[in-house]
Amino acid sequence: MLAVTCTSQSATDPLSGLEVGERPEPVAPDGWTTVRLRTAALNHHDVWSLRGVGLPADRLPMVLGCDGAGIDDEGREVVVHAVVASPDWAGDETLDPRRSLLSEVHDGTLAEVVTVPRRNVVAKPAGLSWEHAACLPTAWLTAYRMLFTNAGVQPGGTVLVQGAAGGVATALVQLGAAAGLRMWVTSRDEARGEQAVALGADRAFEAGARMPERVDAVMETVGAATWSHSVNSLRPGGTIVISGATSGDAPAKAELTKIYFKQLRVVGSTMGTRTELERLTRFVVDAGVEPLVDSVLPLTRAREGFERMVAGTVSGKVVFTV
Ligand SMILES: NC(=O)c1ccc[n+]([C@@H]2O[C@H](COP(=O)([O-])OP(=O)(O)OC[C@H]3O[C@@H](n4cnc5c(N)ncnc54)[C@H](OP(=O)(O)O)[C@@H]3O)[C@@H](O)[C@H]2O)c1
Repeated sequence: MLAVTCTSQSATDPLSGLEVGERPEPVAPDGWTTVRLRTAALNHHDVWSLRGVGLPADRLPMVLGCDGAGIDDEGREVVVHAVVASPDWAGDETLDPRRSLLSEVHDGTLAEVVTVPRRNVVAKPAGLSWEHAACLPTAWLTAYRMLFTNAGVQPGGTVLVQGAAGGVATALVQLGAAAGLRMWVTSRDEARGEQAVALGADRAFEAGARMPERVDAVMETVGAATWSHSVNSLRPGGTIVISGATSGDAPAKAELTKIYFKQLRVVGSTMGTRTELERLTRFVVDAGVEPLVDSVLPLTRAREGFERMVAGTVSGKVVFTV
């Protein structure tokens, strides 16, 4: 089968270990299902794997990809849930200390076929296109849990999203706006900020700008570059939800004094549960939310999508058709 594989890793030249070519088709073990993918999508996670972060070298070669949608072995249209919990785990899969994401232990979705545990698929609603379905399992699910499970905000509340154009950032803006939250974004680029406003953000600010008023919650995926700004932008008692650190995880100042003096809550957030993925798929259809798609490429041209993500020029999701 055709697949996008990580064959070696380099912190400085991640694309050197990317291979688009033939791989043996996987065979589903007992209790697993085979999904013939129709669409898949790219995440920063795939670039981290190529850089050697989160994927030990002794597991290579590894088929990349966490996002995918296709037809399972019973002929159903499904969206793949990328969080693989231990077989005996019950409850919130993201809290299983032995969980992994597809492409960390088991081959991922940037392929013609992926095998996953039977509980790792949810029904694709008829009203959800294949392209939009592939956007949901990682960046969008992460955004859903950040906003609706972990932020503690209510309709009318103000939420600041650090970064405007990324997969998680655009999902946060579109989901928050659809749920009646006042969404503000920062961006290093004016045009990307304006695009966020077109997607439903109330206002866009340049990176590091002082907010006109303190916000109820900050959604953080940028990390070191924006950490102090996130702490300074919150109202007393507000919440930072952090799910990533694209610019590094060692900020110049940890801001410990401000965190305890303003009684801020700092909440870590990772992916989401199968139940949250089901609710997300229902919500986007019912609310008429269409995930922002940067580009749609055949899987054979996957390298072009990776190049755009490494260059930092992606707006929304890069989708691959299989
Ligand atoms: N914990 C989880 O479960 C989980 C799930 C998904 C993603 N993540 C993590 O979240 C992060 C974002 O993922 P993604 O897929 O949305 O990636 P992406 O599409 O590459 O997003 C990059 C985003 O970072 C923003 N950014 C702002 N300042 C930056 C800086 N100094 N350097 C680099 N980027 C900067 C960009 O905003 P502007 O260009 O508008 O300035 C853009 O919104 C990644 O680190 C990823 O690993 C974690």
